[in-house]
Amino acid sequence: MTATARPEEGYTPTCRLRPLRSVDFDRVLQLERALFGAGAWTYGMLADELGALGRWYVVAEPAGPDAVAVYGPGPKPVVGYAGLWFDGDVAQVMTIGVDPAYQRHGVGRALLDALVERARQLKAGAVLLEVRVDNDAALSLYAKAGFERIGLRRRYYQPEDKDAFTMRLDLSSPAAPGGPAGGAS
Ligand SMILES: CC(C)(COP(=O)(O)OP(=O)(O)OC[C@H]1O[C@@H](n2cnc3c(N)ncnc32)[C@H](O)[C@@H]1OP(=O)(O)O)[C@@H](O)C(=O)NCCC(=O)NCCS
Repeated sequence: MTATARPEEGYTPTCRLRPLRSVDFDRVLQLERALFGAGAWTYGMLADELGALGRWYVVAEPAGPDAVAVYGPGPKPVVGYAGLWFDGDVAQVMTIGVDPAYQRHGVGRALLDALVERARQLKAGAVLLEVRVDNDAALSLYAKAGFERIGLRRRYYQPEDKDAFTMRLDLSSPAAPGGPAGGAS
């Protein structure tokens, strides 16, 4: 997966995915506040979430020569994150977010594909998620990945008091090569 980082700087680093570690907490919480405002997870919520059963979280970070040119040889900033919960039957997308400076360059799709691939490995029958009814970017991302709307949850998001669509991706059939959810990086 490639992602153009900070296009205004003219760099096109590759992003790689790796497991979320506790050292990433501050950066992920910074992104949470920027992306979700009043609905952002707190440190305690994130720690509880990661410690709960059946969770699998990944982050995206710039990699390759261009990333070294931008950030130097040391650790690179996390530019996206996503998490999955598998209950032994179906998988649930818990969160997904991408640094605004890195959005619209494939990072979100790569993270989502990684969650779906993980769900397939776990033999989940489906992947479920909730998404705000007015979140056009996420709705389009999920639809392109093959998710279908199956319901509406009124006032699901608090304190924003917004409704959510429930969406589902059926995993009972094999992934089509190059098709929806078939291109995890
Ligand atoms: C939703 C989100 C994760 C997408 O991340 P991203 O890295 O920008 O997504 P990608 O570049 O991989 O885009 C994949 C597809 O998503 C859709 N999409 C992404 N951003 C979009 C936007 N601003 N408007 C419309 N569609 C958009 C498009 O269909 C896009 O495909 P395309 O590039 O071929 O048009 C990102 O916008 C985000 O972090 N939003 C805030 C947090 C959030 O709402 N998370 C979802 C909670 S349910």
